[in-house]
This record gives sequence, C-alpha cells and structure tokens, in this order.
Amino acid sequence: PQGTRYEAENATISQGAVESNHAGFSGTGFVNYDNVAGSFIEFSVSAATAGTATLTFRFANGTTANRPMTIAVNGATVQTRDFPGTGAWTTWQSTSVSAQLVAGSNSVRATATTAGGGPNLDYLEVTT
Ligand code: GCU
Repeated sequence: PQGTRYEAENATISQGAVESNHAGFSGTGFVNYDNVAGSFIEFSVSAATAGTATLTFRFANGTTANRPMTIAVNGATVQTRDFPGTGAWTTWQSTSVSAQLVAGSNSVRATATTAGGGPNLDYLEVTT
C-alpha cells in the first residue's frame, strides 16, 4: 500500500482558518473549522487507477463534544463520521474511512454537521 498525504492547510477551505498554535501537526499548520454546521475542507486527490482507497483523517478535538463530519467523495456522501474529543488540542488522532475513487482527480470533502463545526484537521492521507 502506498499512502499520499494531503495537508489540510493546502486544501480548499470554506469557513475555516489555517492555524499553527497547537503543536504536533504535520506540515506548516492545521485547519480550525469555524464553529458552524456546513464548514468544510475539500481535498483534490489523485488516483492512478479506480478502486477502493482508505481515507485517513488526522485531527484533534480538545473539547469533550463530538464534532461529526460528513465525508463525501466526488459529491456523494460516503458516511458521517464521529470526531470525538482527543483530550487536548495538541493530542492528534487518526480515523479512517473506506471509499471508492475514480482514476484521475477526485474531490474529498469533510463537512461539519453540527454547530460546533469540525475538529482541527491536520491532514488527509490516502492509501490505495
Ligand atoms: C479553541 C482552539 C481552536 C479550536 C477551537 C474550537 O479556540 O484553540 O484550535 O479550533 O477552540 O472549539 O473549534
């Protein structure tokens, strides 16, 4: 398996900000979702061939409230996933979703579904 990392700070951000005030992130920072439902980050993911991929999201949630997000690939919802508290904003954890990719360019969007918005998101790693 070969993994490719897509940093959240390089993705398309709707209602969120790139920040770097909580240590432990990869790259130059992470994205702090605005605390609203509907805030999202969209990654452009390249796949050599069509097939099943594992989408791994690295996140931190320093609250005790879940920050669920809907994961959509090429506009179709894959699932809504829990992003529970990790204990601190500097404690980063990963959660994975399996999805079908097409050959070439794919959009992977993670959209907050509750008023708390999303967690802080460090990166998406795609393994095919
Ligand atoms: C704090 C924290 C942010 C986080 C925010 C939130 O302000 O410093 O990194 O994104 O809480 O609740 O979403």
